[in-house]
Amino acid sequence: MTTINDINFKNKRALIRVDFNVPLDKSFNVTDDNRIRATVPTVKKILADGGSCVLMSHLGRPKTGPEDKFSLKHTIATAEELIGVKIKFAADCVSDDAFELSKSLKPGEVLLLENLRFYKEEEKGDEGFSKKLAKHGDVYVNDAFGTAHRAHASTTVVAQFMAEKCAGLVMAAELENAKKVLLHAQKPFVAIMGGAKISDKILIIEKLLDNIDHLIIGGGMSYTFSKHWGVTLATR
Ligand code: 3PG
Repeated sequence: MTTINDINFKNKRALIRVDFNVPLDKSFNVTDDNRIRATVPTVKKILADGGSCVLMSHLGRPKTGPEDKFSLKHTIATAEELIGVKIKFAADCVSDDAFELSKSLKPGEVLLLENLRFYKEEEKGDEGFSKKLAKHGDVYVNDAFGTAHRAHASTTVVAQFMAEKCAGLVMAAELENAKKVLLHAQKPFVAIMGGAKISDKILIIEKLLDNIDHLIIGGGMSYTFSKHWGVTLATR
């Protein structure tokens, strides 16, 4: 697997698919910055090489186009603080203004595009939209592990239209972890899983069951299992 460590980004624009799908409070403050924090080493390595970064992500599940509550502008302050550079913002993904901003990026600069899911083309994996996204960079970097299972325009499809592509450090580390767990786990082996979206995790659970001795399920998913087994969970 090619990672950003195999590429020198000097004078190159990296188009990075990040996962800035973070929770926000009622005043649109980021309440858990882990996903943004995780991306920092990838961005910093590219900037340190003398490259620039165009970040693209989704936030939430907007259904009918742009909605202020799903705007990625709410993540800028947190990202600036964590990355340590001023972040430019394109209020759109594929407008002339957005291309002007990405084209004029200088080494060391970072641009964030508005929520990809404001375009229905994103979730449809639309080729035309992907080709336009590809124009934002010289190298495609996928660092959005949490979204990598979706065949969306900004994940699998855009990669087809970029000559140079690689994994970011989040993606590389997660794949390494998965390999360790699935192929080289030592016994006794107990897996602990959390999260809410059981539909995304059920395949992983099925795969894990071949290798593990015990599985502990927490978070939102535990309610689904409890209901299935007819168990009443104690609530506070
Ligand atoms: C997540 O939060 O699981 C990822 O960001 C993917 O989001 P999605 O389930 O809305 O595609």
